[in-house]
Amino acid sequence: MTSKTDLITWSSTFSVGVKLIDDQHKGLLDLVNDMFNHATGNEAEEREYFASIIQQAVQYVKVHFSTEEKIMLHTKFPGYAEHKKTHDSFVLTLVENIEKYNAGRRLILSDFTKFLKEWILTHVAIMDKMYFSHFKSIATRQDDGKLHIDTSNVANIG
Ligand SMILES: [Fe+2]
Ligand SMILES: [Fe+2]
Repeated sequence: MTSKTDLITWSSTFSVGVKLIDDQHKGLLDLVNDMFNHATGNEAEEREYFASIIQQAVQYVKVHFSTEEKIMLHTKFPGYAEHKKTHDSFVLTLVENIEKYNAGRRLILSDFTKFLKEWILTHVAIMDKMYFSHFKSIATRQDDGKLHIDTSNVANIG
């Protein structure tokens, strides 16, 4: 790709101290950056792109939220309920917006991208980081000197 610009660049300030979550957050940033690079201002083009990626993007967000929620439950994070509420309301807003676009509302991809960026900057960089100190208290330090929590059985937690 030629003139690729990033709207948001990953940095350690986003890190929540769990590799699995950090990797998923990097994936979210990639999605937003890809979307940003498809904001051409041509609505037909933007709609075609939007239609091709949006269901997968929503699915990615849902999987990510459920991963975080499982880890928070698994580690008995006291802020779980409040955090889950924020996830649920974001998914609701996301789905409502998509329905409006599908029903004919003018799609301006750069606006939609900004909405996602704002959410990442507030939720990921602030709220997700709130469980960092909690994780630190139960994490172990491994050979690479970084903190790890055992997420191997996350998939099996109901
Ligand atoms: Fe997150
Ligand atoms: Fe979160």
